[in-house]
Amino acid sequence: TELHDLIRRLPKAELHLHLEGSLEPEMMFALAQRNNIDIPYVSVEAIRAAYDFSNLQDFLDLYYVGMNVLQTEADFYDLTMAYLERSHADTVRHVEVFFDPQGHTERGIAFATVINGITRALEHGEAKFGITSRLILCFLRHLSEEAAFDTLAEATPFLSKIDGVGLDSSELGHPPSNFQRVFGAAAKLGLKRVAHAGEEGPPEYVHEALDLLHIDRLDHGNRSLEDAALVDRLVAEEMTLTVCPLSNLRLCVVNDLKDHPLKRMLDLGLRATVNADDPAYFGGYVNDNFIRTADAVGLTETDVITLAKNSFLGSFLPQAEIDRHL
Ligand code: HPA
Ligand code: ZN
Repeated sequence: TELHDLIRRLPKAELHLHLEGSLEPEMMFALAQRNNIDIPYVSVEAIRAAYDFSNLQDFLDLYYVGMNVLQTEADFYDLTMAYLERSHADTVRHVEVFFDPQGHTERGIAFATVINGITRALEHGEAKFGITSRLILCFLRHLSEEAAFDTLAEATPFLSKIDGVGLDSSELGHPPSNFQRVFGAAAKLGLKRVAHAGEEGPPEYVHEALDLLHIDRLDHGNRSLEDAALVDRLVAEEMTLTVCPLSNLRLCVVNDLKDHPLKRMLDLGLRATVNADDPAYFGGYVNDNFIRTADAVGLTETDVITLAKNSFLGSFLPQAEIDRHL
């Protein structure tokens, strides 16, 4: 359809993408062989079949197993480059990607191996495809704030390559307030701050992310809609929400894509964006997220253009670069 064509050719930015979640089953298999790593799957088909989740933790359990195949700088390079190639095909012009260093350093991979592989690909991706980027280091919230401080210390020699910090992994029981001090330290280092909040967690976690972590952007934020005063505040503050519809469907945050609140968010005046989250696990990259959600909830051409514009407005690009993209 015309709307699908518009989606496919509109320039867009992607603001919520876990690089480790772009590890496709084919690459997982290839890297397992290359590195002689055991994985609990007999085939690519068996991997895909295992991706039948009923909540966030179900997914995370497989996500942390999958990343075991990532061992060398070349692996992180290949992972990141494959994502940039897919993004280029989706007319993505700018990406702000997450990585989970603790998922790697915990199993003995050096921080430098991870970040050097990723940033070399981001540089080559810009040269090859013209895709600009920012890199966001996420703290795993199921681990302690002390562990997050250790990770921030490990990141310090690489600060020129890191633009912000984020907070991800198991949300329930791990409120933003647990990470107030390490986010304060990150702010002092000049880093931007984002956090996953209101994906499975209550609106109170979104309040904490705003008031205690002083976030520049809200990842997911779906459950903010349960709190009318919070919605008003997010609108007034022009807070960007990085919404991930196919992720929400596969993790049962919504039971049907028709029930997805994306259109409601736009109608409320929230600065919502569309993102893939973990495309290898949730069945689609950014254009798939746009197209399937547009069909399910009835997005208009105006909605789609607004969402694409919001992705640049919500980015950490300098204003002149944002203006160039609008
Ligand atoms: N939520 C929380 N943690 C994550 C996600 C997510 O969607 N993807 C990767 N880590
Ligand atoms: Zn996420």
